[in-house]
Amino acid sequence: MTELTELTDVTDPAEHRSSYRVSSIASSPEREIERLSAQVELFWPDESRHYRDNGLRDGIAMVELGSGPGFTTGKILQLHPAIRVTAVEIDPLLVEVAGDRLSRAYGDRLDIVQASILDTGLPSDTYDFALTRLVLEHLPDPVAAVREVARILKPGGRAVFVDNDFEMHLMTSPHIPALAELYGAYCRSRADEGGNPTIGRELPGILGRGGLSAVTFTVVSAHSDIVGSKSFLGSEGVGIPTKLVRDGYLSGKALGEVARSWRDLMRNDKHAILRQMYLSAGEK
Ligand SMILES: C[S@@+](CC[C@H](N)C(=O)[O-])C[C@H]1O[C@@H](n2cnc3c(N)ncnc32)[C@H](O)[C@@H]1O
Repeated sequence: MTELTELTDVTDPAEHRSSYRVSSIASSPEREIERLSAQVELFWPDESRHYRDNGLRDGIAMVELGSGPGFTTGKILQLHPAIRVTAVEIDPLLVEVAGDRLSRAYGDRLDIVQASILDTGLPSDTYDFALTRLVLEHLPDPVAAVREVARILKPGGRAVFVDNDFEMHLMTSPHIPALAELYGAYCRSRADEGGNPTIGRELPGILGRGGLSAVTFTVVSAHSDIVGSKSFLGSEGVGIPTKLVRDGYLSGKALGEVARSWRDLMRNDKHAILRQMYLSAGEK
């Protein structure tokens, strides 16, 4: 799959730089795209009802910002046969991947725009619903991103933002102490690139400062007893931890300890795995 690598790093204006680049965040772009897919599947049963609660329905015009390979985009298009979706993504590789995956089936209802969430170039007061999933945590100025999303939203429209908080990322029983080391290393690496990996708890304030009102906050969760333990394996993946070791943020010994503990956990028939994301929504 060398074609994927060749397509990355084409355009990325410095002022729109983020702590997420599919070409370099993990050991390979292909692995990272697979992880994004697994992460969408993991949360979808709980996440989708929160979108409905915030106004996602058939027939509307919606915009998704930082849509990546388009796994959430595809689910929304499939579920709503009359919805029109504009997907905004800065990375040309991911624009291409999303186009290849979705254009044939949904091209008449889907526009994929290569642009930054900070300056979409889209007209004001246009969309009934906006979704920004796992993007704000990578941006040096998330309030500016919310302001731009608010600008393109129709008056009365709602915008949903979903992010992680890596201090509360994944909890297991039995407890795996080595995971704290892994997530500490991840947080340091993202922060070094201008991101905020514990942004989850700050979301309501950021939405308010970005100009949205009637702001709500909720936890989106996935539990191994409900969705199955295997769903967590692909979602956590090994691509990012391997890259953290390569970049000097995590020791190989710590990663080995995580892998061993994870194997032991899976063999324990009473084990439990809980993962959370944080969802905040506001109205224009
Ligand atoms: C962690 S991925 C999430 C992708 C997708 N939203 C999902 O939930 O699977 C972050 C995405 O945000 C995109 N991104 C980063 N900075 C951006 C910016 N300034 N404008 C638009 N997209 C951006 C990345 O290229 C990537 O596709």
